[in-house]
Amino acid sequence: MARSAIINVMVQAAMKAGRSLARDFGEVQNLQVSLKGPGDYVSQADRKAEEIIHAELSKARPGYAFLMEERGAVEGDDDQHRWIVDPLDGTTNFLHGIPIFSISIALERQGQIVAGVIYNPAMDELYTAERGGGAFMNDRRLRVAARSKLSDAVVGTGIPHLGRGHHGRALVELKNVMGETAGIRRLGSAALDLAYVAAGRMDGFWENWLAPWDLAAGILMVREAGGFCSDRDGGQAMFDSGTIVAGNEAIHKALLKTIQQKS
Ligand code: IPD
Ligand code: CA
Ligand code: CA
Ligand code: CA
Repeated sequence: MARSAIINVMVQAAMKAGRSLARDFGEVQNLQVSLKGPGDYVSQADRKAEEIIHAELSKARPGYAFLMEERGAVEGDDDQHRWIVDPLDGTTNFLHGIPIFSISIALERQGQIVAGVIYNPAMDELYTAERGGGAFMNDRRLRVAARSKLSDAVVGTGIPHLGRGHHGRALVELKNVMGETAGIRRLGSAALDLAYVAAGRMDGFWENWLAPWDLAAGILMVREAGGFCSDRDGGQAMFDSGTIVAGNEAIHKALLKTIQQKS
């Protein structure tokens, strides 16, 4: 499969950062860790990976703006393009030695996500998508799962940690989804949750309180694999609301209805 120039740039940055994460994952007990808020950890590994991605992407495309989890927004001379980067999605897993974490890089052009890369270095799984060009895992074309009944579906989610609040609403949603699906999974990396929906490994995914860097590449991945994404009201304000519901057309619709139930 021939990759486009822009995907190559993103893959190179993700792989380089991935090598840094893989080294740090091997000696996680030696990493400096700090708390950004209750239950919200950041380590040297997150920051190092972010520096690598920032340097690689700036070298390849000087002037593009950035939105990154740790550094925040960095303005560029080019107001048409913005990189949206999560250098380590799944910090909690990483710090516990659980090999489910990823790097997520998306490119936004005039407000629209046009390319996305998600990489899990521990499993060496590389997900890529370009608007209109399909989604791939390594070199395999991806397609969302075909199951149409929620009762057959395995659905991913995220559970808010202490300090996030909103635990009441999360419990209501969990109760309702658990009563209607074949199983719920909590992987711990929202970008990988979306990549797994794109790959047909999970039939759907929903979560609240996410940031654009958790979502940007994954939304494109799901859409390019033939799936549907919306916010929890069925609209397209995923970045502003921080909410997402994803799946094939039928699962997306059914999941949306289930999580919207008030009690
Ligand atoms: C977190 C992961 C997790 C989700 C959290 C995110 P981080 O990202 O995506 O799955 O449930 O809400 O904050 O902090 O590990 O990059
Ligand atoms: Ca974080
Ligand atoms: Ca994240
Ligand atoms: Ca992160």
